[in-house]
Amino acid sequence: MFIKPNWRILTIGDGDLSFSASLWNNFKPEQLTATVLDSQKTLENKYQYHAIKQLQTDPNQTILFSFDVTNPDSWSNLPERSYDLVIFQFPLVPAFEDPEYFHKMGDISVNTLNRLLLRKFLIHCTEYFLDPNGKQLCYITSKDVKPYCEWNIENSLNQDLKHIEYLGSMPFNIEDFPGYKVRNVDRDKHVKDTQGISYVWSPKTDNTAHESEFIEKLIAKSHQGENYCEICKAGPFVSASDKLLHEQTKKHRLMQQYEDQYTRMIKE
Ligand SMILES: C[S@@+](CC[C@H](N)C(=O)[O-])C[C@H]1O[C@@H](n2cnc3c(N)ncnc32)[C@H](O)[C@@H]1O
Repeated sequence: MFIKPNWRILTIGDGDLSFSASLWNNFKPEQLTATVLDSQKTLENKYQYHAIKQLQTDPNQTILFSFDVTNPDSWSNLPERSYDLVIFQFPLVPAFEDPEYFHKMGDISVNTLNRLLLRKFLIHCTEYFLDPNGKQLCYITSKDVKPYCEWNIENSLNQDLKHIEYLGSMPFNIEDFPGYKVRNVDRDKHVKDTQGISYVWSPKTDNTAHESEFIEKLIAKSHQGENYCEICKAGPFVSASDKLLHEQTKKHRLMQQYEDQYTRMIKE
């Protein structure tokens, strides 16, 4: 993950705050605001180990609890448009206790809810979080396992997004963040360390506006073009019939349903 020490950083949905604490200790940002969806009490009850105290040692650190990235009413005390970089590590909507929830939402899938969460995150980064005179970067770290690999982050989220564009991805190496435990969304468990990928967006769409050292770290979109299936990241196909065979698979049809539902939801 590309981070410079003088940056002002906002972290979103940091389960037990171990990512933000490690970021502070190892990258020395100028300013760090760490946010969690849970209230302080819920976080303390949920996780036996957490890093609240480590983030209360310096005036340039702030923790905001009960911070829902989709809901500006929950952001009291957040300075507007003050950050160079906003990071959301392994985002995932929490489980819904109401069994009727999805039905009430118009039978929307969890897949679409996760995509909508990320869409809101990107919109709010441009509208409220990023300093227009700063580095203007948003990172979403994800991994190549379900459910993350079913969100088509590289190709889908860019649809109909104004003022922000996908720039590319970079490997996320957890060894650069000693002490960081990737948390399960609802329980005091930590998820086994798999290789992560940080996807990068920016309102500054001209690559020459970014530092060349940063641009050199970026990897372009994969599985692009006629001989590939962008939504399943499959191919290259050797012929049109090979591609057709793929499009008839259960996996492709499910991924296409997710794509169609997301596209429908953002147009509504
Ligand atoms: C799989 S956990 C990962 C936690 C942490 N980022 C990590 O890397 O260990 C997903 C996180 O997304 C957060 N999250 C889900 N919806 C959110 C929202 N609307 N606003 C802020 N955070 C959210 C959850 O609270 C949860 O902590």
